[in-house]
Amino acid sequence: MAEPIRVVVTGAAGQIAYSLLYMIARGEVFGKDQPLILHLLDIPPMVGVLEGVVMELADCALPLLREVVPTTDPAVAFKDVSAAFLVGAMPRKEGMERKDLLSANVKIFKAQGQALDKYARKDVKVLVVGNPANTNAVVCSFYAPSIPRENFSAMTRLDQNRATAQIAAKAKVPISDVKNVIIWGNHSSTQFPDASHAVVTVGNTEKPAVEAVGDAEFLKSSFVETVQKRGAAVIAARKMSSAMSAAKAACDHMHDWWNGTAPGQYVSMGVISDGSYDAPKDVIYSFPVEIKNKQWKIVQGLSLDDFAKSKMAVTGKELLEEKNEAMAVCNAD
Ligand code: NAD
Ligand code: LMR
Repeated sequence: MAEPIRVVVTGAAGQIAYSLLYMIARGEVFGKDQPLILHLLDIPPMVGVLEGVVMELADCALPLLREVVPTTDPAVAFKDVSAAFLVGAMPRKEGMERKDLLSANVKIFKAQGQALDKYARKDVKVLVVGNPANTNAVVCSFYAPSIPRENFSAMTRLDQNRATAQIAAKAKVPISDVKNVIIWGNHSSTQFPDASHAVVTVGNTEKPAVEAVGDAEFLKSSFVETVQKRGAAVIAARKMSSAMSAAKAACDHMHDWWNGTAPGQYVSMGVISDGSYDAPKDVIYSFPVEIKNKQWKIVQGLSLDDFAKSKMAVTGKELLEEKNEAMAVCNAD
């Protein structure tokens, strides 16, 4: 058996973490032969709840889980971690946009960037889940200058999973028969879910999604809107934001980063923009990426029509505005 790795989950007493911790500790992210030491960070008022989570993890009797370190101290939480799931942040309520959380949440990611910089391994893989996720990730990376910018990512995998599920339902095929749906831009209602390069297996043949779905208008209208507004729809129904599906997406994201993508397949991740596809540089923009040896690479050469270009410009502009606002909040601190 390999040596245990240290993995931190922040917001460990919250909703998403309640599903996420079990999935990680079962080996669904880092592998069934990778022992783990889980660091659980939350804030002092949540210590009692955190104790309950620690009891339940023990009671799960999970063979890969070697140790659990509950803490409210970032110095302990981030010490020597190889992977960080940054979940801890305020969720939005009905009627809010995710960027309305910016002033409340961005300082958390400034402080955690500083703590990662000081205490984590330099090859740590950081996944930001807390909203507004892309902008929190860019802030976190800015305050952790000794860690490569490529090691910071934001979660748009939930959007990808939602989009894939919509296509599968419309084409009447199992989820596993749909691949390469893309999420461009921000994890917000300006994101652009793009099925124009997606492929659906029908019988023994692979077809473009537009052919399998048989409805080009659907892919430009209700498909896009449903995915853009799915988070709000879940909040309206549950009165709380998505948690089970968010935890599953966080596992999928880190799993693929750790283990790589299958040949011919790509996944969407918010990563530091190099200006590919005319996205603004130096924001965390969701691109299709291929992953090998724990390194992602933006998929190049995909054709974009005017519809796609206009949607991508809108979401890019929003990310620049959010980044400027976030840096102003941090500088005022
Ligand atoms: P929650 O309120 O149930 O849990 C959040 C936890 O974070 C709480 O226990 C809270 O005490 C803790 N916390 C707050 N500040 C902290 C800090 N400084 N350090 C450590 N912990 C801290 O919320 P949730 O439903 O688990 O959602 C968490 C975040 O994830 C929200 O911002 C939500 O909007 C976001 N989210 C993102 C996606 C995505 O796709 N990117 C999906 C779902 C939810
Ligand atoms: C989601 O997409 O479900 C999350 O970002 C939560 C939210 O606020 O919508």
